[in-house]
Amino acid sequence: MRQHILSLAPYSSARDEYTGKEGIFLDANENPLGSATPENWNRYPDPYQAEIKTKLAPIKGCRPAQIFLGNGSDEPIDLIIRLTCEPKEDNIIILPPTYGMYEVSASVNNIEIQKIPLTSDYQLDTEKIIASINSKTKLIFICSPNNPTGNLIDRKAILEIIKNFQQGIVIIDEAYNDFSDEPSFVPELDHFPNVMVLQTFSKAWGLASLRLGMAFGNEALIKLLNKIKYPYNINGLTQKALLENIGNIDFVKNSVKTLNQNRKILIAELEQLPIVTKIFPSDANFLLVRFKEAKKTFDYLIEQKLIVRDRSKVILCDDSLRISVGTKEENERLIELLKKYQ
Ligand SMILES: Cc1ncc(COP(=O)(O)O)c(C=O)c1O
Repeated sequence: MRQHILSLAPYSSARDEYTGKEGIFLDANENPLGSATPENWNRYPDPYQAEIKTKLAPIKGCRPAQIFLGNGSDEPIDLIIRLTCEPKEDNIIILPPTYGMYEVSASVNNIEIQKIPLTSDYQLDTEKIIASINSKTKLIFICSPNNPTGNLIDRKAILEIIKNFQQGIVIIDEAYNDFSDEPSFVPELDHFPNVMVLQTFSKAWGLASLRLGMAFGNEALIKLLNKIKYPYNINGLTQKALLENIGNIDFVKNSVKTLNQNRKILIAELEQLPIVTKIFPSDANFLLVRFKEAKKTFDYLIEQKLIVRDRSKVILCDDSLRISVGTKEENERLIELLKKYQ
């Protein structure tokens, strides 16, 4: 941890100083008359989202104090870097091809980035990763299932990194874990004090627009993240929407089932197309697909108003497009267009 953060006094909000719900509130300079919208949003929300965490903990198999909620999981990615890395001094390790925000957040904070590419089958090069750890290495980001490749990272390899990096924190980004059968690291966190897990409500829960991400870790780490976050980082509308629907696990389960089924059908259809040269195995709600002419195919799809993600310039992803699994109709349209292009 950066020393000055350990000793700094955090901002103390009005809702920190009085947590009761009853009373006349003249402490936060809010508008007591109500809001400019039909529904009232005039009161600041709970800065630590206690009710959500109480309901979320049993779903995730952890204690409420092990949960941090952020404005998307992008927020804890940035916060963990700012909490641990001294600009121009410390470094982080990332494993490309992987999710872009680790590099962007580190760069914004002027933190050196060590890139240790995945192997050709998109697994960890454990030996190289461990060899690259130096006294200034604070964080290692592992994404599993990995974006943009879609595959799970071998658990044994992750455990080896955790074991060999006791000086810092291993961040396991499980944004797409709901779509796989792989158990989460969250219920095991008590065994791994140097691990932080990221998950999100943006994927299987279908709540990307609400901007709600989760970080899980030991209580001391979560306290420090809370210390440096913006006071009311999760807005009242988001908290209310989630609290009213957090019991709707059936939606999540059904979405996963449907999308995984759709993924299977999509793979079978893509396999029939001569313009497709490889479909990478996926445990997520997207596929990395190699085409004979990725850029031309991408441009054609855009012309037809079907948008996929061009990853062909990304290391180890030559000629590849990343395709989110859509509804049955959307996937059928994609295949129809690819056949036409062909
Ligand atoms: C691997 C991974 N992590 C984190 C995120 C960020 O998710 P959010 O900020 O919506 O929670 C994404 C988004 O695509 C992602 O792919």
